[in-house]
Amino acid sequence: MDLEVDDAIARRIKELSIRLAGLHEKDLYFYNQPISELRGGARVIVNGREMGMYASYGYLGLLGHPRINAAAKAAIDRFGTGTHGVRFLAGTLSIHRELEETIAAFKHAEDAITFSSGYVTNLTVIATLIGRGDHVFCDKLNHASIYDGCLMSRASFNRFEHNNIDALEKCLNQVPAGAAKLVIVDGVFSMDGDIINLPRLVEVCRKYHAWLMVDEAHSIGVLGKTGRGIEEHFGLEDVIEIKMCTLSKTIPSVGGYVAGKADLINFLRHTTRGYIFSAALPPAQAAAANEAFKVILDEPWRIQKLAANTHQFTNGLKQAGFNTLFTQTAIVPLMCGSDENAFAMTREAQHHDVFALPVVSPAVPQGLARLRATVTAAHEPDEIQYAVNILEKAGKLVGVLS
Ligand SMILES: Cc1ncc(COP(=O)(O)O)c(C=O)c1O
Repeated sequence: MDLEVDDAIARRIKELSIRLAGLHEKDLYFYNQPISELRGGARVIVNGREMGMYASYGYLGLLGHPRINAAAKAAIDRFGTGTHGVRFLAGTLSIHRELEETIAAFKHAEDAITFSSGYVTNLTVIATLIGRGDHVFCDKLNHASIYDGCLMSRASFNRFEHNNIDALEKCLNQVPAGAAKLVIVDGVFSMDGDIINLPRLVEVCRKYHAWLMVDEAHSIGVLGKTGRGIEEHFGLEDVIEIKMCTLSKTIPSVGGYVAGKADLINFLRHTTRGYIFSAALPPAQAAAANEAFKVILDEPWRIQKLAANTHQFTNGLKQAGFNTLFTQTAIVPLMCGSDENAFAMTREAQHHDVFALPVVSPAVPQGLARLRATVTAAHEPDEIQYAVNILEKAGKLVGVLS
């Protein structure tokens, strides 16, 4: 390959290299840093420094939980470190079925199916359920994996204004009766931390005979008295047809699932390419996830502590003067304006041992760059106060706060 070639691919690579080199030069690059150790649930070692972790999606602080670690180790001793291939052929282990039964019980669903990641789950499930001639409706702030699944499906793609169910209704109203319709939303939005208006959404989906899929990546373990998520939060019982979630956030493992009616799950088991043509979840990860759901039910104090910590963290940051949008959960966006401001905020935070990370364009529109800070049940009140103080100082120094 001629390395001097000047086509669109080469230009894209060059542009990014230049952007990254500029950030490194100004000490503004903080992605891909290796964490070398977990110290308790809320502290990590990064580049030899111990920092408070404010970039974790392990909302209930379950990473490193002794029961979950022990379950993973026992699964290795019993099954080894991998499987015999894809789930459909020799890859299904008893621990996979056990995990799926645990998930179904946790979500009050008839059955569940697991995949190798949350990303793959959205991609393969959406692209399997709908196709050409069908219609899919997507909240503008949905996660990238939902967008990618919609685009891969080749269904007619409709985006509606964020959390505006009236806007969704207008879109649904334009679709011919009888056409297949799938509405997909995040339960809690991963960039802004706000919650979908599920009661109104369900009403509209029923009126227009649309299937409803909700991604619970940031609502499982966070919403509901027992952490069961968005339906429990709103006191609604089994109103979502396709209950999707990842196993990599509150559940400290890897993988993704869909829970729902038995015939839907059976259909997905025989049609989704991500299940039929990709390797099964490793046994240790399946066992860890399985145990984590049980720990959530056995240790309800974690959900209460997360709520208290979220309250302290968000209120502290708001009082300091930060614009935190409409967050209602443990994801707290600290709006910084430009990408450079967000990078500079990160530098100041991390130089004072607060490990938070920026989200910049193109992940969010230009001018809406932010430090996306998260709090978990593993934090203690004095640690949260320290982080708030550091972030406030950083905000003043960088000019995000006056
Ligand atoms: C809302 C949402 N859905 C899906 C995913 C993908 O999950 P995973 O990381 O397990 O692939 C994420 C991860 O960031 C997410 O935030």
